[in-house]
Amino acid sequence: MSLTTFPGGANSSPNTNPITKVTMPALSGMKRQGKPISALTAYDYATSRLADEAGIDFILVGDSLAMVVLGHENTLAVTVDEMIHHTRAVRRAVHRALVVADMPFGSYNTVTEGLANAVRFVKEAGAEAVKIEGPRFELVRALTDAEIPVVAHLGLTPQSVHRMGGYRVQARTAEAVLQLKSDAHALADAGAGAIVLEGIPREVAAQITAELAVPTIGIGAGPDCDGQILVFHDLLNLTFAPPAKFVRRYADAGILIRSAIEHYREDVEHHAFPSDEESYHLPESVRQTLDGIEQAATLRKA
Ligand code: KIV
Repeated sequence: MSLTTFPGGANSSPNTNPITKVTMPALSGMKRQGKPISALTAYDYATSRLADEAGIDFILVGDSLAMVVLGHENTLAVTVDEMIHHTRAVRRAVHRALVVADMPFGSYNTVTEGLANAVRFVKEAGAEAVKIEGPRFELVRALTDAEIPVVAHLGLTPQSVHRMGGYRVQARTAEAVLQLKSDAHALADAGAGAIVLEGIPREVAAQITAELAVPTIGIGAGPDCDGQILVFHDLLNLTFAPPAKFVRRYADAGILIRSAIEHYREDVEHHAFPSDEESYHLPESVRQTLDGIEQAATLRKA
């Protein structure tokens, strides 16, 4: 496996042990070794730091940010500048995981535009790879030639929501399965370092995974992929909507956060927060001086 050892990063203490950085070639090494790849989306400093410290291998600053963080109806509205802003926050937090930035809708319609925007993600945000949706072979080749690692994304590609007529499971006919397999092979041949497979039958994902040398990362694609990715807010029930079939909720942060905030509001309303221990106090000498000044003023008035 190709792993590189780096020191812990700018914010780590000098005593921090060196970490084994996950790189794009390391993902292929994990596949060869049969070691499952854990991936998760994240969009800000605190949550990506938690994901990194929890040992997640691959953190995607997904364009799902448009929906789960910014409240849009789908992923189409988020801009390159917004994605860069969030990728920079994630970059500052993450020391071990591979940081991948999602290229948003409309940012890679031509190879020239795609290259220019991908360079921004690397230069301005510190992304170590970019993810692009669909069978964009020419662009994948151009990015690879420009030393920008690419994660491809096939199957249910949310940026195609209008063409697909909604978020529907893909590759359900023999013709569509053959097309998807051919696209996956061509993307790997063009240089993609990993392929996200979303919303496709388990059997199709298993075949593609067995045939390709590069790792597949599944979301709604069954357990036979080389890795799995979930959206952070799905994993923790922070989405305010019923989950998709493939989502497993590992905790209910929605309940936890709501109840903590309600408790805080009640404490404020009942003067139970802050307490004396949570308050700053004047030094005794200053209190005495002020008392003396007040007493002198009272005597003068009398
Ligand atoms: O934007 C995103 O969160 C994604 C994952 C679902 C793979 O593309």
